[in-house]
Amino acid sequence: MMEYFAVAGGSPLAGRVAVHGAKNSALPILAATLLADGESVLHNCPALTDCDAALEILSCLGCRVRREGDTVTVNTACRRGHAVPDHLMGRMRASVLFLGALLAREGAAEACWPGGCALGARPIDLHIQAFQALGAQGRSWNGQLFFHAPGGLSGCRIALPIPSVGATENAMLAACGARGLTILDNPAREPEIVDLQNFLRCLGARVSGAGTGRIVVEGGRPLHPGEYTVMADRIVAATYLCAVACAGGEGELLGTDGACLGPVLAALTAAGCTLDRGPGRLAIRRGGELRGFGALRTGPYPGFPTDAQPLLGAVAAGARGQSRITETIFDRRFRYTEGLAAMGAAVQVEGDTACFSGRPLHGAWVEAADLRGGAALTLAALGARGESVIGGLPHIDRGYQGLEKALAALGGHIRRVTGPA
Ligand code: EPZ
Repeated sequence: MMEYFAVAGGSPLAGRVAVHGAKNSALPILAATLLADGESVLHNCPALTDCDAALEILSCLGCRVRREGDTVTVNTACRRGHAVPDHLMGRMRASVLFLGALLAREGAAEACWPGGCALGARPIDLHIQAFQALGAQGRSWNGQLFFHAPGGLSGCRIALPIPSVGATENAMLAACGARGLTILDNPAREPEIVDLQNFLRCLGARVSGAGTGRIVVEGGRPLHPGEYTVMADRIVAATYLCAVACAGGEGELLGTDGACLGPVLAALTAAGCTLDRGPGRLAIRRGGELRGFGALRTGPYPGFPTDAQPLLGAVAAGARGQSRITETIFDRRFRYTEGLAAMGAAVQVEGDTACFSGRPLHGAWVEAADLRGGAALTLAALGARGESVIGGLPHIDRGYQGLEKALAALGGHIRRVTGPA
C-alpha cells in the first residue's frame, strides 16, 4: 500500500497555521552537537524524515537521542567512531554535513560518496577542498570517502568560488576543531548559516560574520553542550503563502514575519496578493485574479531562493498572463512542470528557464519527483478545479511536518489516504 494526498481543489482558503522549525537549519545544528561532549537540547526541531535520518546517524555514532514533540535531546558523552552509515548517506545528502563535525572532533571522517539526486549532480568538491585546506588528507577508494588529519586541523583562509550552503556549514564545523583562526570568504549568507553560528556560539565557539561575505572562526577551543531554539522554516512559510495565492482567500502564518522572504513576497505581490506583516505573524490575502508575475531568477541569498522556485511555478501555472522563471542553482529543478502540465498548465521549459502562460487548472493524478516539486503540485491542486491525487509523499515528508494538516488548517480540502501502490 502507498500513501497519497487526496485534494478537492477550487475553493478559496481561510485559516491560520504555525510555521514549524527549519529543516535546513536543524540538520547542520544536529551535526554540530557532536562538537561538544554532553547533552544538548534543541527546541522547534521539526519532526521530518530528514531529521530522523540525522538522529539515526547520531545514534550510529554512539549518541543517545530522544525526541519529545519538537524538542530533541542529543547526548554525545558515549560518542564513538567516525563513519556516516552508507544507507543514511544515500537517504539524505545532507548527511555530508556530519563530515566536518567528525573531522573537528575525531580528526577523521568516513562516508560513501554521495550520489546525485533529483535536482542534479550535487557535487561536494568544495567541501573536500575546505577540509584539505584545513589540513585533512582525503582519499576516495571503492566508492568510499576517507578523511583524516593525523596532525590535527589548522586554521587557514578559505575562499569559496561559489557560496555553497553545505560547504560553508561543513567548513564552519571543521574550523571549530582547527587550531587558530579560519577565515571563510564568499560564504553562503542564508539565514540558516546565521542560525548555525548562533548555535555554535551557544556551545562556546567563537564564530562571527555569518550572513556577511566573511565568516571568522577561532577554533581549537573546548566546547560545552547547549540549548537552542531552531529558526522557523522560511521555505515552509513560502509554501503556505503560495497555497493561498494558488487557491485564493486568506491565511495567517504564525511564528514568522517573512523578514527573510523579500523576493518571494515581492513575486506574490506582483501576482495580485496583499500581505500584512507583524511581530511573529504574516498574513496573506488574494481576493482578485491571480496574475502572472513577470520574470524571476533564483540566486544565492539574499536572491530569490531556489527552494521556493517550484512553489512560484505553481502560482504561475494558474495565473492569468505570462511568467518566466530562471533557475541558476540546480540543473534539474523543473521536473514538477510535468505534473503541472497534467493539470492543464501551459509551460515550456528550455534549459534553465521555464515560461508559463497561466490558465485555469484541472485536477489530475500526479507524482512528486522531489521535495519542493511535490509541494508545488499539492499547491497547484488546491487551486485546480476538481479532484487531484498526489503520490510520492516520501519526498514531501522529508521537508514538511504534516503538509496536509497544515494546508487543511488553512482551509484546504486535503487529506492523506492509503491506496494501492
Ligand atoms: C542546501 O543544499 C539546501 N539543503 C538545499 O535545500 C538548497 O536548495 C541549497 O542549499 C541552495 O540554497 C540543505 O541545507 C540541507 P549548495 P546544498 O551547496 O548545500 C554547487 C531543500 O529543498 N556545489 O548551496 O547541497 C551545487 O551543485 C534542499 O530543502 C558545487 O559545485 O546546496 C549547486 O549548483 C534542496 N560543489 C550550488 O553549488 C560543492 O561542493 C549550490 O549548492 C557544493 C555545491
